[in-house]
Amino acid sequence: METPMRVTVTGAAGQIAYCFLPLLLRGEVFGSRQPIELVLLDVEEALSTLRGVMMELEDGAYPLLTSIHYTNNVSEAFVESDVAVLLGAFPRKLGMERRDLLQKNAVIFKEQGEAINKHAKRSVRILVIGNPANTNAAVLAHFASDIDKKQITALSRLDQNRATSFIAKKLKVSPEDVKNIFVWGNHSNTQYPDLFNGVTDGGPLPDWLQDETFLRNEFIPTIQERGAAVIKARKLSSAMSAAKAVVDHLRDWFIGTQDIVNMIVCADGSYGIKKGIFFSFPCYCYGNGSFEIVPHFPWTPFGDPYIEKTKKELNAEWEQAFAALLPKSSL
Ligand code: NAD
Ligand code: LMR
Repeated sequence: METPMRVTVTGAAGQIAYCFLPLLLRGEVFGSRQPIELVLLDVEEALSTLRGVMMELEDGAYPLLTSIHYTNNVSEAFVESDVAVLLGAFPRKLGMERRDLLQKNAVIFKEQGEAINKHAKRSVRILVIGNPANTNAAVLAHFASDIDKKQITALSRLDQNRATSFIAKKLKVSPEDVKNIFVWGNHSNTQYPDLFNGVTDGGPLPDWLQDETFLRNEFIPTIQERGAAVIKARKLSSAMSAAKAVVDHLRDWFIGTQDIVNMIVCADGSYGIKKGIFFSFPCYCYGNGSFEIVPHFPWTPFGDPYIEKTKKELNAEWEQAFAALLPKSSL
């Protein structure tokens, strides 16, 4: 057995955590030989639920679980963390403007960024899931200023899984036989699901899938609106599929993969995206928490307006989130 890994999960009393924690403790993320010290964070009002989650995890008798600690204290939660899975976020309430949501969450992710900066291991790897995920990650990265930006990612794998599964269903093949479908930009309904680089069976996708009417009226809006469609049907946001995507993202980041996978990462200037913006790119994952943005998938002219729209939205989100946190002169 290896040295235990300390994994902090925030929003741990919530529904994604309830689906994710059993998968983590079964070894689906870091393998069946990696023991885990679990630290669960949620807000004070959720502590009773969190205690119940902890009891259930104990009752699961998972051999990989070496200890569990739960808390509502942000500093305590990140002490010596190797990995931080950030699910906790302020939910959008009736009548709330997106700007209010951004600013409420900016305060949370500022505090968590500072706590991670102070208390976590220098090698910590962070995955942000709580919405608005891209901008929360950008805020966190700003305030966790001693942590390399390449150690901070956010989740767009659910969008990639949705798009891949959609195309596999059309082709009547398994999702594992469809590769290189990418989702660019924001994890919101401005994201750009792009299948122009897609392959199946070692060759390009059939021409009928690249028909502009199909793309504009069916493929792109279905993927962009999938999260909202699940909320409408379930009266709750995606949890099972989100937890699966969290597993896929972390496993590929830590163990490595031959596939090219979507991650929201800090733009380094490639594809003309402004540095510092957290944007969903296709990435190579080499294992041990390392990745590179794949530089050679330029979007076609068809994609340009979609990219412009998602870029513009992310720039505006960045300004709105930071407006509450930073003096105007530094924006
Ligand atoms: P949920 O409401 O069931 O759980 C969220 C939990 O976070 C709650 O227990 C809440 O008390 C907690 N929380 C709120 N503020 C907190 C804080 N400051 N510190 C710690 N915990 C805090 O939500 P869920 O369904 O588990 O979803 C979690 C988040 O993930 C939401 O923001 C959701 O929109 C987002 N999400 C993102 C994706 C993605 O692909 N990026 C997909 C699905 C859901
Ligand atoms: C999803 O894509 O399912 C979620 O991000 C939707 C949401 O608003 O929680």
